[in-house]
Amino acid sequence: MLEKILVTGATGNTGLETIKCLMNKNLTVIAALRNPEKDKNLIPDNIQFVEFDFEKPETFKNAIIGVKKVYLVRPPALSDVKRYIKPFIDFLKNEKIEQLAFLSLIGAENNHFVPHYKIEQYIIESGIPYTFIRPSFFMQNLSTTHSQDIKENSEIFIPAGKGKTSFIDVRDIAEVSSLALSELGHKNKAYELTGSQALDYYQVAEIMSRVLDRKITYSDPSLFSFFQKMKARGYQTNFILVMIAIYTIARFGKAETVTDTIKILLKREPISIEKFLEDYKSCWF
Ligand SMILES: NC(=O)c1ccc[n+]([C@@H]2O[C@H](COP(=O)([O-])OP(=O)(O)OC[C@H]3O[C@@H](n4cnc5c(N)ncnc54)[C@H](OP(=O)(O)O)[C@@H]3O)[C@@H](O)[C@H]2O)c1
Repeated sequence: MLEKILVTGATGNTGLETIKCLMNKNLTVIAALRNPEKDKNLIPDNIQFVEFDFEKPETFKNAIIGVKKVYLVRPPALSDVKRYIKPFIDFLKNEKIEQLAFLSLIGAENNHFVPHYKIEQYIIESGIPYTFIRPSFFMQNLSTTHSQDIKENSEIFIPAGKGKTSFIDVRDIAEVSSLALSELGHKNKAYELTGSQALDYYQVAEIMSRVLDRKITYSDPSLFSFFQKMKARGYQTNFILVMIAIYTIARFGKAETVTDTIKILLKREPISIEKFLEDYKSCWF
């Protein structure tokens, strides 16, 4: 039987790109969707999909029929690991899954406050062969969560001070994840993934102004105004607090680590911020 790989977070940043990479390698992928009828058009044509919801354990069984490997994305809104993620890991353990690639977070192994730490620990304890993908901050946050301020006000509205971040393109993360799930030698390993340089948001605004050919400014709002604006936009309090925590980490220079893992694994340079901005230009007009 063909080896099937279940990709969770299939409509999201890394899930969708991971699906494309796995398909390019001619592997059999199943996209796990919360709302298959609504979202099947978001994934590539001719790909299998299945209903899957961390909040509905009754969807697990059907989702992993014939599946040997899983790409696991923790949805940002689900912070209660014990309640929402652990039951799925327990289930995968019982089903004797061969490999679990978990999208974690750079530094997660030393940060007991993030859900990724608990998930990593729990996966290790489960005994399921794993690959931890630990990326830095996604470039694509600029084209999704923060695109409205850039589009409407030509402003990067992020409370990160002068701190630098080693931004990574999710397409690089997906390449590594698909490699880890398709080649030998990646079980029980953890990969810290970053772009090739760390930039502060003043530098990002400068590069963005050049690529978009219009003045983009970085406003470095206070935490209070950031909270208020995000709340008014309908984001959940927990999600805003996580964003604030992440940007505070960056403000204190803790997000600037640069690794050469992409270069080692993919044998090429990471995607540059200039290329990302060119490729996603339409998001800011
Ligand atoms: N953003 C960053 O810079 C960054 C950096 C490092 C690590 N991370 C980590 O990466 C992970 C993903 O974050 P992201 O911002 O890139 O999100 P994302 O993957 O773009 O979106 C979340 C995905 O999870 C799915 N989902 C939501 N609730 C679900 C549920 N109950 N059951 C099954 N699937 C569900 C969503 O599907 P629907 O379409 O149905 O909502 C969507 O596909 C998070 O754990 C985050 O901490 C993020």
